[in-house]
Amino acid sequence: MVTFNNLAAAAGVVLLSGQHVLAAELTKVNYANNATSQAEMYIYVPDNVVESPPLVVVIRIGYITLWPSSPNQGTCWDVSSPQSLFRGGGGDSSAIANMIEHALAEYGADRERVYLTGGSSGAMMGNVMAAAYPDLLKAVSVYSGVPAGCFVSSAGQVAGWNNTCSGGQSQASPEQWGNVVRDMYPGYDGPRPKMQIWHGSVDSTLAPQNYKETIKQWTNVFGVDQTPTNSVQNYPAPNYQTDDYGENVQGIFANGVGHSVPANLTASELWFGL
Ligand SMILES: *[C@@H]1O[C@H](CO)[C@@H](O)[C@H](O)[C@H]1NC(C)=O
Ligand SMILES: *[C@@H]1O[C@H](CO)[C@@H](O)[C@H](O)[C@H]1NC(C)=O
Ligand SMILES: *[C@@H]1O[C@H](CO)[C@@H](O)[C@H](O)[C@H]1NC(C)=O
Repeated sequence: MVTFNNLAAAAGVVLLSGQHVLAAELTKVNYANNATSQAEMYIYVPDNVVESPPLVVVIRIGYITLWPSSPNQGTCWDVSSPQSLFRGGGGDSSAIANMIEHALAEYGADRERVYLTGGSSGAMMGNVMAAAYPDLLKAVSVYSGVPAGCFVSSAGQVAGWNNTCSGGQSQASPEQWGNVVRDMYPGYDGPRPKMQIWHGSVDSTLAPQNYKETIKQWTNVFGVDQTPTNSVQNYPAPNYQTDDYGENVQGIFANGVGHSVPANLTASELWFGL
């Protein structure tokens, strides 16, 4: 049985719009998994799936969706241990990468159109996936997370909590944050997924400072300036501000919104180009 909590860790925000309907149609599947992490895989293939469909690691009509389910207590994704914070480390991120490969092989999904969205712990994992498996993803949309490698556990704990990061005290230069990403997959110089980062200004779970740090991280990875190239007030909703940093990084700061920013699937789909 798919429980809301299991899925919420990966994709809660998206689920909120139709959890009852979707839960009935999600199917648990086995996948070739050589990771230590035994995260579970759920798939939703709509009846009207298009040919060579895109794959969204989460929701909606016309495309296949993959819903990873966290194996950890409290259903949070492991974004703290070295197993998850490095490519091929065998942690949750490796398991999700295995799920993506399985979905591509098994359902004929289009390797060039794999996207990921998640909220809270799912957003934190979204940043880690983009860092450790950039070759698997085309675009990512994360709601209320922290930079990749921010939630690290110095003791190597799996799915540990990091107060320094959650409280917004983990601050570093763009270069330092960029290095954290580059170190998760050393030597990689191929394409990376474009990043859409949402955060609420009154988030008391993962401090809003994490928005700034995440923007620093991805702008550095893409080698673009910290100053927005385009800025739009009250978009995509009143009191939200959308800032573009070139074509590959977009920040959406939701004034007056707490944890977690409700998913706007339309906006995420636009970002994915769907
Ligand atoms: C799993 O297999 C892939 C290739 O099939 C390999 O790159 C990876 O290092 C293996 N181990 C883990 C833990 O992912
Ligand atoms: C928390 O994360 C920061 C990086 O964001 C790291 O420097 C620190 O060691 C971590 N704290 C613990 C207790 O692991
Ligand atoms: C979601 O974003 C779209 C633009 O991408 C906007 O038109 C729509 O009003 C937004 N919905 C909500 C509920 O904010």
